[in-house]
Amino acid sequence: MKLLQDKIAIVTGAARRRGIGLATARLFAAHGARVAILDLDPDEARQAAAELGPGHLGLACDVTRRDACQAAVDEVVQRHGGIDILVNNAGVTQKRGIMEVSDEDYERVLDTNLRGVLHMSQAVIPRLKARGGGSITCVSSLSALQGGGVFGGSHYCAAKAGILGLVRAMALELGPDNIRANGVAPGLILTDFSRGGTSDQDKHERAKGFPLRRVGQPGDIAGACLYLASDLAAYVTGITLDVNGGAYIRP
Ligand SMILES: NC(=O)c1ccc[n+]([C@@H]2O[C@H](COP(=O)([O-])OP(=O)(O)OC[C@H]3O[C@@H](n4cnc5c(N)ncnc54)[C@H](O)[C@@H]3O)[C@@H](O)[C@H]2O)c1
Repeated sequence: MKLLQDKIAIVTGAARRRGIGLATARLFAAHGARVAILDLDPDEARQAAAELGPGHLGLACDVTRRDACQAAVDEVVQRHGGIDILVNNAGVTQKRGIMEVSDEDYERVLDTNLRGVLHMSQAVIPRLKARGGGSITCVSSLSALQGGGVFGGSHYCAAKAGILGLVRAMALELGPDNIRANGVAPGLILTDFSRGGTSDQDKHERAKGFPLRRVGQPGDIAGACLYLASDLAAYVTGITLDVNGGAYIRP
């Protein structure tokens, strides 16, 4: 069964080969969606979209820039006729102690992770309303819940926690328009997010202590995003779905 047949989806931060965004874009395409991959580098975005097969789109978009988000959304609508699904996945991290976070660090991490979600959502919401509804899924982090993870400093934790507040606010405000908004909180996932700061081997070692005894794969998060974007989750809004192998189990 294809869960997203004929839907049009945007996934931000989806050009990186081992990333959560590209895994999500692949799974959405396999489920019948036409996908627009948005990322910083136009060639990487186009190449990633081409790998999904014909009919998909790769566009340059820096989510920290409101005008760039609006332009990318307008182009998707022009090419595909509308938008049904947004996955706010683009993010950056930095390992910093609380006393080391400079204003520049704060701006970079908050602007990409949190302001970017606001910009993209604001650009897409009128398009979802025009289609009679849709879904917004925002990739947060386990760091938002437990006050730290493996890679992120306090400013990263704050940004990812801010996303969850924004998700709940959007769920409340946009529910009457049949727009659902949800968060996904990944635990430790095997991607290049740490930019070499933590080796794959370290991640495998650390994951031996998790209840499920393994590190997460990008496809584990893609599956959660697929569920939340699809009609399987038609009555689900305002939640945060923890996908962490049991590394953090909420009371
Ligand atoms: N890997 C993990 O363990 C982990 C854990 C928790 C949460 N996350 C979250 O998952 C998401 C995806 O991360 P990933 O692990 O796939 O890492 P990744 O580095 O592969 O993916 C991040 C993507 O965001 C893009 N990006 C960065 N700044 C951008 C901007 N201003 N505009 C547009 N795109 C931008 C990057 O180019 C990259 O493609 C992030 O939001 C991250 O915070 C990851």
